[in-house]
Amino acid sequence: MPLRIILVGPPGVGKGTQAALVEEALGTKQLSSGVVFRSEIEAETDLGQLAKSYIERGELVPNGVTIQMMVKRLRTDEVRKKGFILDGFPRTVRQAEALTEELAKEGITLDGVLSLEVDDGVVVERLSGRLGCTKCGEIYHSVNKPPSREGYCDKCNSPLIVREDDKPETIRERLRVFHENTKPVIDYYESLGLLKRIDASRDPQDVFSEIKLKLGAI
Ligand code: AP5
Ligand code: MG
Repeated sequence: MPLRIILVGPPGVGKGTQAALVEEALGTKQLSSGVVFRSEIEAETDLGQLAKSYIERGELVPNGVTIQMMVKRLRTDEVRKKGFILDGFPRTVRQAEALTEELAKEGITLDGVLSLEVDDGVVVERLSGRLGCTKCGEIYHSVNKPPSREGYCDKCNSPLIVREDDKPETIRERLRVFHENTKPVIDYYESLGLLKRIDASRDPQDVFSEIKLKLGAI
């Protein structure tokens, strides 16, 4: 049976890093709302233009367009076959409820919701050093996970960049938005009995081991 899981947590906690490890090890399809928005921005679509204005301020893109965009991706044959690991969606209670409705329609049950947890200070440190590949999306950190050749991706040799929304004032706003809008999503899944809390302060491989342990226990 394919896995259907959600990763929830503050900006910079390591959702993208862990979702990629899960996809690589288990073949589960990573669906990251942030990655989808950034590719829409890159392709200069109408959705990209709309999303850009919110993302550069650290605000949430409105629920309506976000839900529509993610539901479309959940309905693909690839996701039906491989299952999914959602990264960055849902991040409001409205989005979580819409996802519950969509999965019920498809006759799908969630295997679990993994809440990655660290203190806000760790988030700031992780985001301040993040570098991402412009082509394949591989994630690095200037101190915790430096590339072998400075400024270039180990996997595809393309240039690495700092994300537009990783400026200190935008990071602060993203954290505020997380506490206000996404903490209630964690409570929502806890009340449904689906929540598993993960200490994400350790190094990526240790966090991944705990995720596998918790997934095995589902
Ligand atoms: P999104 O792209 O989802 O950003 P985010 O939630 O702020 O999370 P990040 O991608 O910044 O961090 P991450 O948890 O993936 O950490 P990473 O693995 O990169 O969303 C961006 C924006 O899009 C939002 O602000 C919003 O505007 C919009 N948006 C997206 N989804 C939306 C939605 N559903 N509704 C409305 N709007 C939405 O790791 C970070 C760094 O730490 C890296 O350098 C990494 O190498 C390092 N690192 C990772 N793990 C560890 C570890 N264990 N130890 C040490 N270093 C580590
Ligand atoms: Mg991410």
